[in-house]
Amino acid sequence: MKLGIFDSGLGGLLIAKSVREHIPDIDIIYFGDTLHLPYGNRSKEAIYEYSRRAIEFLFAQDCNLIITACNTVSASALRKLQQDYLPDSKYSYRRILGVVVPTLECALDDGYKSIGLIATNYTINSNAYKEELQKLDPQIKIFQENTPLLVPLIEHDGGQWLPSVLKRYLTPLLKHDIECLILGCTHYPFLKSEIRKIIGNDISLLAQDEIIPKKLKLYLENHPEIADKISRHAKSEFIVSDITKNYTQCAYKIYAQEIDIECADFSVETNTYIRKAI
Ligand code: DGL
Repeated sequence: MKLGIFDSGLGGLLIAKSVREHIPDIDIIYFGDTLHLPYGNRSKEAIYEYSRRAIEFLFAQDCNLIITACNTVSASALRKLQQDYLPDSKYSYRRILGVVVPTLECALDDGYKSIGLIATNYTINSNAYKEELQKLDPQIKIFQENTPLLVPLIEHDGGQWLPSVLKRYLTPLLKHDIECLILGCTHYPFLKSEIRKIIGNDISLLAQDEIIPKKLKLYLENHPEIADKISRHAKSEFIVSDITKNYTQCAYKIYAQEIDIECADFSVETNTYIRKAI
């Protein structure tokens, strides 16, 4: 069995790379649904359907532990995916984990009482972070800002506009005396240094490429029955639903080397993806 990491596109590669650094020997399959990126402006129904296909695809690749690295998926489809699949005895040994709760736990572990959050349209409007925080500790305040232009600017070489767009998005949050800022989207770790320039050094940045691998390591330590089943040949496989030159170049940049990226076919007949070559 392997670890599956699923994201709508590029940003999840930062998490996959960081997981590799934290757990060097684990076998990973990364699936990026580049055909349907960005998820952040889509409906709940569409996000669920795309996520379902991705999860089934990863299950079929022997990934019985899957991280939905995408915040939009974690905020919208995760609960339903867990409810739809895991109670079935056919899937009971499988696990699907999200990123919202572990990220909030990290903020609470660090003792923050006033949290800022930036994320996609869907994640913010779903209030998933607010609702989960309410369950974890209702005393903690969270201030959130919808930042829908960031993913398109990152994906389409819009670097020159990022400083002014970020300033516009972050200024309202800075009025709230926040102690940390959660980067609630897989793509946002790319913006750490630009964000730091605007928020200064007194506010901590909570980025999921740093949080999720540590939380995963802990999860595996606490669940040896799952950890022991994961194969450990230090193998990483990268599969996307649509491949472009832009995507491969960005992926090579993230990994600082060329990596093999496969493109899966979608089968209308089975309503899922099929791997061309294994
Ligand atoms: N991966 C998404 C997330 O973390 C961002 C990109 C998208 O909108 O698909 O929310």
